[in-house]
Amino acid sequence: MSQPYETIILDTDDQGIATVTINRPKKLNALNTQVLEELSDVFTTIQNDESVLAVIVTGTGDKAFVAGADIKELRALDSPSGKEKSRKGQQVFQQLEDLRKPVVAAVNGYALGGGAELAMACHLRVAGTNAVFGLPEVGLGLIPGYGGTQRLRHIIGQARALELILTTKQIKAEKAYQWGLVNRIAEEDLEEAARSLIHKILENGPIAVRYAIEAVYQSGKEAGFEKEAELFGSLCETEDFVEGTSAFLEKRKPDFKGK
Ligand code: HXC
Repeated sequence: MSQPYETIILDTDDQGIATVTINRPKKLNALNTQVLEELSDVFTTIQNDESVLAVIVTGTGDKAFVAGADIKELRALDSPSGKEKSRKGQQVFQQLEDLRKPVVAAVNGYALGGGAELAMACHLRVAGTNAVFGLPEVGLGLIPGYGGTQRLRHIIGQARALELILTTKQIKAEKAYQWGLVNRIAEEDLEEAARSLIHKILENGPIAVRYAIEAVYQSGKEAGFEKEAELFGSLCETEDFVEGTSAFLEKRKPDFKGK
């Protein structure tokens, strides 16, 4: 699967891992309207393509994952169009988070503003040793507007989220790992590290993986318990559940069929 986007490269390997690469290297992959529109299209394609099992999101080059929303475009905004811009980006990033296939950000350099927010909308994050995270918005007289005020506090907690947002300080991979913003630091090849994390996930029951993502993202404790129990019950009627438990009892590796 490969499609003619101008600002995105979509590549799917023979193991069903789609790589979405933001491709505006001259502008450090900054997110302009076209990138967001193309991303939305790509996420819909991935959602509808059953052969895609997992997704990697990254940026072209070795300098930036994404250096934020395109500041040139932001300059022209007024109150209604600014709100609309924020809403649009929130929706596109939510499409990504709503994918029920594991999504891993491979952060290859600067992930600033909207770029950090894009990484946060991925289910998991692997950082290259050169990764730098930051929310520079208040320094531009703005606030994070692509979901960052909400997601960051869920991922690293309110105090650290406020510190990053209010001070605009940038943190490198090691600190991002200590703070729980990234799951792993790739000591060598970043893409390989992202793939290896995905392969580890794909060894497990596919329906169970999908439902686990859905349950973890269910907000509200009571609604979360309800969702967890409902999905747990559904899984008890899958062939994968019979296979997984039989394999354990028979001391062999399971062979999941996703049924
Ligand atoms: C537009 C950008 C850009 C951005 C970089 N460029 N970031 N253009 N929007 N966010 C462009 C530069 O203008 C320059 O273009 C080229 O990319 C290379 O960048 P340099 O600044 O020359 O590179 P360098 O000196 O190495 O600095 C790298 C950097 C810096 C530290 C990442 O580019 C930077 O601070 N960028 C802005 C980061 C930022 O503030 N992001 C948050 C945006 S607000 P030319 O044509 O001069 O070569 C946001 C809000 C989201 O994201 C929510 C919206 C609703």
